[in-house]
Amino acid sequence: MNPAEIASWVFEAEKAFLAAPDLDQLKQARLAHLGDKSPVALASRNLGSLAPEEKASAGKLIGDAKASISAALDIATAKLEAIRDEKVLREEIVDITLPVQRSHKGGLHPITIIKNEISDFFIEQGFSVEEGPELESGWLNFDALNIPPDHPARTMQDTFYLEPLSSGMVLRTQTSPVQIRTMLKEEPPIYVISPGRTFRADELDATHSPVFHQVEGLVIDRGITMAHLKGTLDNFAQAMFGPKVTTRLRPSFFPFTEPSAEVDIFFNNRWIEWGGCGMVNPKVLATCGIDTDEFSGFAFGMGLERTLMVRHGITDMHDIVEGDLRFTRQFGVGL
Ligand code: DAH
Repeated sequence: MNPAEIASWVFEAEKAFLAAPDLDQLKQARLAHLGDKSPVALASRNLGSLAPEEKASAGKLIGDAKASISAALDIATAKLEAIRDEKVLREEIVDITLPVQRSHKGGLHPITIIKNEISDFFIEQGFSVEEGPELESGWLNFDALNIPPDHPARTMQDTFYLEPLSSGMVLRTQTSPVQIRTMLKEEPPIYVISPGRTFRADELDATHSPVFHQVEGLVIDRGITMAHLKGTLDNFAQAMFGPKVTTRLRPSFFPFTEPSAEVDIFFNNRWIEWGGCGMVNPKVLATCGIDTDEFSGFAFGMGLERTLMVRHGITDMHDIVEGDLRFTRQFGVGL
């Protein structure tokens, strides 16, 4: 073990560290030149076998060599780490000037939004939401609602009949048959609303659509009066049109309610017809097997398109049915 040999270990180590292109290779070089089996390590381990007079000087030489190799390693490590860090920064750079790929979020149709709003409003008050089929039996759509075959109300609601006519099936002209379905299947007290699609053989124009939506309300309980109906409609109208809106009931006729009324709202400084309502006709209650001595009830029904059009000043039904996103988006996602 002579000084020249020890100097060559340092030299070889420095060369290897300098030549290492990355931290992985530097690690290999460190193991070779500072690891357990490196010349300096082996030499340190051998010190014990040297004669005492040699030990001190050899120890110092080896210690110095180790320190030099370590210093060279530190320098190489710092250099390669800086290179790595710079590379990471460069690779992870985000070019904020690149044009983004625009993807449009979907939006709920305003009819869906208002349907959800109405459902939430009534559910909060303990109502449940009932759905009925769009393909309905003529008996439920008409007869059970006290609209016999020769009744003028049948011709007022231009009906899509299903073939064969003997099937007695229609596309429901109103959501009122869900009243019957509910009363046939449940015992009072009943507090339900039923929003849904309805159909009439109308041409699509600014105010009509052959496919439209209604929401039906039905309450059957002990001691229900017209005052409950009025209060419910007042609250409902305020939820739809704002706290300042007022309602009025105007005498009218529906075969399934007695007495019947149109409900108008005072909105934007004028009275506007909103829907129909009344006390459920005892004949209808009896058809559904409800004891009319014990129970009474009210019902109401209104169009969702109409509600939306009045509330938002929409003047053309086409906007609602055409599904143009430029229209739909104005109502927000409404989730
Ligand atoms: N079903 C009626 C229609 O389509 C609306 C209606 C009126 C529903 C009075 C009701 C009601 O529940 O009580 O014109």
